Amino acid sequence: MVLQDINRPSISDFYNGRSVFVTGGTGFLGKLVVEKLLRSCPGIENIYFLIRSRHNKNIKDRHLKVVNSPAFDLIREKNPEALKKIVLIEGDVSCLELGISKAEQEVLFEKVSVVIHTAASVALNDSLKKAVLTNLRSLRELIKLAHQMKNLKSMIHTSTAYCNLILPEIKEQIHPIDIDPHAVIHLCENFPDEVLKEFTTTLLKNHQNTYVFAKALAEILITKDAKDLPIAIVRPSINAVARGMFCSGYFAKDALCDVVPADMVVNTIIAASWTVTREKTTFCDDSPIKVYNSVSGDAHPITFESFAELSVNIGKTYPSAKVVWYPEMRCYESKWAYEVDQFFTHLIPAYLTDFYQKLSGGKTLAVKFYTTHKKIFDAANFVATLPFKFKSDKCEELLNSMEDSPNEEFYFDLRSMDWKSYHHDFYFGIRKFILKEHNLDSVKGKKKLVKLRSMKYLLGLLLIAFVVLTVLKLNEFLFKL
Ligand SMILES: NC(=O)c1ccc[n+]([C@@H]2O[C@H](COP(=O)([O-])OP(=O)(O)OC[C@H]3O[C@@H](n4cnc5c(N)ncnc54)[C@H](OP(=O)(O)O)[C@@H]3O)[C@@H](O)[C@H]2O)c1
Repeated sequence: MVLQDINRPSISDFYNGRSVFVTGGTGFLGKLVVEKLLRSCPGIENIYFLIRSRHNKNIKDRHLKVVNSPAFDLIREKNPEALKKIVLIEGDVSCLELGISKAEQEVLFEKVSVVIHTAASVALNDSLKKAVLTNLRSLRELIKLAHQMKNLKSMIHTSTAYCNLILPEIKEQIHPIDIDPHAVIHLCENFPDEVLKEFTTTLLKNHQNTYVFAKALAEILITKDAKDLPIAIVRPSINAVARGMFCSGYFAKDALCDVVPADMVVNTIIAASWTVTREKTTFCDDSPIKVYNSVSGDAHPITFESFAELSVNIGKTYPSAKVVWYPEMRCYESKWAYEVDQFFTHLIPAYLTDFYQKLSGGKTLAVKFYTTHKKIFDAANFVATLPFKFKSDKCEELLNSMEDSPNEEFYFDLRSMDWKSYHHDFYFGIRKFILKEHNLDSVKGKKKLVKLRSMKYLLGLLLIAFVVLTVLKLNEFLFKL
């Protein structure tokens, strides 16, 4: 049942006098959600910010680090008072009741109108127990809390567009799975890791890893536990891409690289929180839970190969002084060819670097660094090799509905996106915020690039010499036999 709200408040008006509970606010996406709410919804009352102490840092120190990060530059400069609206709630989503004290739960029950859940462990191959407790049971616990929130108007669960890659076409609906999420939670609560390990592969069936498995089950959990809540699911594809660690990749021909700018995902999340309430949707069997695929592939597709080409070009045109290798990307459709390339152009150089470091008394980190990142890259590579297509009609509908009121600040129209300027902004964003470069001209970078190109050719020659010598030696040895 869908009833239109006659007054149609804008998104910013909707948040007037309301308080939001955000999980995952220290993370990449959650941080941007908090920043955007504070900046673009000036009437917002408070943001209750779930945070845990970690690495010997208490929650206050961790929160300070978040609000002093470059993502909050604008707010600190233009409206630092807004930061006082953040109220810290200590908790850990992998614990029962999210590890929140009873007294703070009471505050949430009284004050919160909107819940935005972005906390998750995004490691693809966590143990089943960790993935389930952090990414599935956390949602069960949050739903229990949400049921007690007296003024709840909407709740958003952040899932992932990749949680159903067992299907060729990923529509904006929850895909049934023949496994009960509660039973999986029960298993993980009651069995140790070593036992769970034994049947993880069988349980996962066609799901590529424990992360997507837990995320897929979390969506099913919503259909069971949260039917009566004003809840929607936002499924982003990729919001950030690797920073040019590898010079070769393994991609299926014409595979689409589904990257969405993080600010567009944030806008989708906030707009979804507004629309769930605005439409006063009552969730029952004939009114399915709203799902929004925050993806680019439907509206504005780009292949991995073209994406890589644009990345390489921008790296060559505006080289950073911190560049560590000559930008290039060789795309392979054959896994075998990709592995050979990686062996010669990444693993051997990593060993040579460590050898040099050992001789000069430095730290030998290159092989460890390479193998760790290769493992992560390979685990995520299924997104580049499986044939699938995302649909995003519901997102388009949501976007169109936003035109009824002044909501420009929250638009997320991917049709008008220009991949070239996206690469430009993304690349300079990385140089400024991640590499922390103060000087963004490319004078030093260009000089370094010339050196790196010479090194690249030198390495090429050394590798050829290595292969020729190995073949000759092998020949000699075989001849002796
Ligand atoms: N980024 C992407 O490309 C992408 C794509 C698709 C979907 N998503 C989804 O979007 C959401 C946000 O992702 P992200 O990229 O922002 O991830 P992220 O940067 O790794 O942030 C994860 C957040 O979750 C919090 N968290 C993890 N375990 C926790 C625990 N046990 N207790 C309390 N907080 C915990 C982290 O807090 P700590 O700082 O304390 O660790 C952090 O704030 C996730 O649900 C993810 O599945 C992201």
